[in-house]
Amino acid sequence: MATVTIHDKVFAPFISREAISERIASLAAQISSAYRDKNPLFLGILNGSFIFAADLVREVNVPAEISFIKLASYKGTTSTGNVVTAIGLEENLAGRHLIIVEDIIDTGKTLHAFLPEIYQRQPASVAIATFLTKPVALKYDVKADYIGFEIEDKFVVGYGLDFDGYGRNLPELYQLV
Ligand code: IMP
Ligand code: MG
Repeated sequence: MATVTIHDKVFAPFISREAISERIASLAAQISSAYRDKNPLFLGILNGSFIFAADLVREVNVPAEISFIKLASYKGTTSTGNVVTAIGLEENLAGRHLIIVEDIIDTGKTLHAFLPEIYQRQPASVAIATFLTKPVALKYDVKADYIGFEIEDKFVVGYGLDFDGYGRNLPELYQLV
């Protein structure tokens, strides 16, 4: 299949729409059996997760709420470095079974910084569903419970993931050549 050029970079087809659909059906089946009677709240992290989240929740067959938040990073004034804050987190999370939905865990830095804010709100449980992980790139202690695909440490675009703002609407996953 054809390559795609975004800015000056060339990307080749990597994971097909069919393979993605099959994998998501399997993750959704696991989630459905684990969350029966738990009324989970899916919390998608924008922008990257919007397509994965949309496909995943439509395969889940237990009652669930779905919401999205955006994360903003600020350069900390102290040695703690970047602070990550949720924008648009309006739900009461206390006592809820959360499933955080991410596009990719790369170094793990984003989730590592964000999770304390979630735990502060005293949810009953927190699980992480991520479309992709790059195990070789992981630098922080973040573990996903539901993983679409473990991939090598190469840049990918499509299926929600962007390169410099573009490529999110590609229906399948492409990898940098
Ligand atoms: P982390 O904080 O290092 O885990 O990075 C997570 C964020 O980096 C993701 O939510 C993506 O926005 C971005 N990212 C990491 N790797 C890729 C990639 O291969 N393609 C597109 N975005 C990526
Ligand atoms: Mg991005």
